[in-house]
Amino acid sequence: MCGIVGYVGNKPSLDVLIGGLKRLEYRGYDSAGVAVIAPDGSLNTRKRAGKLNRLTDDLAADALHDGTTGIGHTRWATHGGPTDGNAHPHLGDDGKLALIHNGIIENFSELKAELLARGHEFTSETDTEVAALLLGDEYRRTGNLTVAFRDVVARLHGAFTLLAVHQDEPGVVVGARRNSPLVIGLGEGENFLGSDVAAFVEHTRRAMEIGQDQIVTIRPDSVTVTDFDGEPVETREFEVAWDASAAEKGGWSSFMAKEISEEPDAIANTLRGRIGDGVTDLSELDSIAAALKDADRVLILACGTAYYSGLLGKYAIEKWAGVPADVELAHEFRYRDPVLSPGTLVISVSQSGETMDTLMAVKYAKERGATTLSICNTQGATIARESSAALFTHAGPEVAVASTKAFVAQVVALYLVALHLAELRGSRSPEEIADDLDQLQALPAKLSKVLESGERIADLARGMSDTRSVLFLGRNVGYPIALEGALKLKEIAYIHAEGFAAGELKHGPISLIEPGQRVFVVVPSPRDSNSLHPKVVSNIQEIRARGAHVIAIAEEGDVAVLPFADDVLRIPLAGPLFEPLLAVAPLQIFAMELAAAKGLDVDQPRNLAKSVTVE
Ligand code: M6R
Repeated sequence: MCGIVGYVGNKPSLDVLIGGLKRLEYRGYDSAGVAVIAPDGSLNTRKRAGKLNRLTDDLAADALHDGTTGIGHTRWATHGGPTDGNAHPHLGDDGKLALIHNGIIENFSELKAELLARGHEFTSETDTEVAALLLGDEYRRTGNLTVAFRDVVARLHGAFTLLAVHQDEPGVVVGARRNSPLVIGLGEGENFLGSDVAAFVEHTRRAMEIGQDQIVTIRPDSVTVTDFDGEPVETREFEVAWDASAAEKGGWSSFMAKEISEEPDAIANTLRGRIGDGVTDLSELDSIAAALKDADRVLILACGTAYYSGLLGKYAIEKWAGVPADVELAHEFRYRDPVLSPGTLVISVSQSGETMDTLMAVKYAKERGATTLSICNTQGATIARESSAALFTHAGPEVAVASTKAFVAQVVALYLVALHLAELRGSRSPEEIADDLDQLQALPAKLSKVLESGERIADLARGMSDTRSVLFLGRNVGYPIALEGALKLKEIAYIHAEGFAAGELKHGPISLIEPGQRVFVVVPSPRDSNSLHPKVVSNIQEIRARGAHVIAIAEEGDVAVLPFADDVLRIPLAGPLFEPLLAVAPLQIFAMELAAAKGLDVDQPRNLAKSVTVE
């Protein structure tokens, strides 16, 4: 939600800001805006509703007087529609100060009433404008942007990252954060602020975290971080593990296409250095080893696609480690008085590591004494820092709003944790664990083979571009894949889609089947010892008898599905828990190709944003 970038240094700031916004646009694309301080000391702003190219076209047609200090914003609308007026920056101190915001200021109505009573006029419907006007007033009183910030943040409730510049302090950008992301980029004679490292990775890979409730002041040659009371705080520098080219589209038609193609690497990189000689090697978890060993329950918290990876984690943890595991949507968990026993291990899963619903759930669990382990893909992420321990997936930057490669990396990370738990607790023999690890390591090659059928799936999708509804069925570990297939299709192709547990079909959903209804079925392996295969094949027969058009995802050599499926997409042989990691790609590709066939923006679906930093 909302991408934020700030710059002070020696380059034309608009180049840096627009470059940063391009890389952050996945966070929100309802409007974009910039504010720069020109050498003559004037503050110049420009903002436009719509995607970033509306702003860049406007700047190309009518140049803005640039300087070397500025801030930029790309918005996902919360308060007030996506209009020019509601776009950020918002102004204070009679237009001398510009402010941008990510998050929600929950007490904005009360602050607005106060500001109106003071004689201020509002030009937008946003919650943000109260912060700009308050900061302007405080600046007038204190004459110092950093000090003014301290006074203002103390009055705000809710979640925010705020950045501001004032024309009387050229060469200074001040930022503050509470429950919304902000990272510092450290350069030579220049410094940066960004919602994430993508904002500045083109210029520097040296980054620094900013903790909760902290204020940062950047100048070309200095960075100062304090708490909200102005006291200095400890900071941690880190090196960004990827370079700018990793977040480029390259020759691909979309980021989503590129990211699906990177899935084998995402798995290999997540496993790299974490497997010893037939054993897991997870030194990141050493600090919580006792809690892992003694946990009497595992609770996985996540949202969206990450939640579906958690469902797969549950199967693995219960099967391999023998520990009861539950998975909950983080936003449902947080507000229902959940009971956490002292032996509960809470695992959160989040690509961005900034999802507010998940962050709030983790904080809640932590406050109640739970050991919290986070599985995140983004370095420096808040959820990782708030947790007792973190295991980073190494999927690389994921730019498309639809999560793909992060999903497979999350599942692999959860499986590593499950096997690690099994080792600590002796619930699985060393031979079995070594075999499971071998199977994990074999996945990248098998998945590359699955991706070779991309063109065939594209043909299938193109033939269905008029489809209004698609159902997805799966059983056991195929069920989360059915849910994920449906989410992908809804999210980017705007087609009504539902995922069902195949066994549930007869309890209601089968009444949805009418002639021509497209149904994807994730078929378990016929080699599977728990004999689910014949049950799912029976389900296929049941829906086929009612006219469904069935597309089966089945393992190579499974001939039992042939008489009943209209199409069969093949996946290589793998153990039962590993099949989902091969079965998901065809569904991701299908959704992507169908969206493309409908002429939709695959990477930036309507109404969505990559990183959901509001509750
Ligand atoms: O960054 P997170 O993994 O915490 O994000 C969670 C969900 O918002 C995310 O997976 C969302 O469902 C994706 N857009 C799905 O493709």
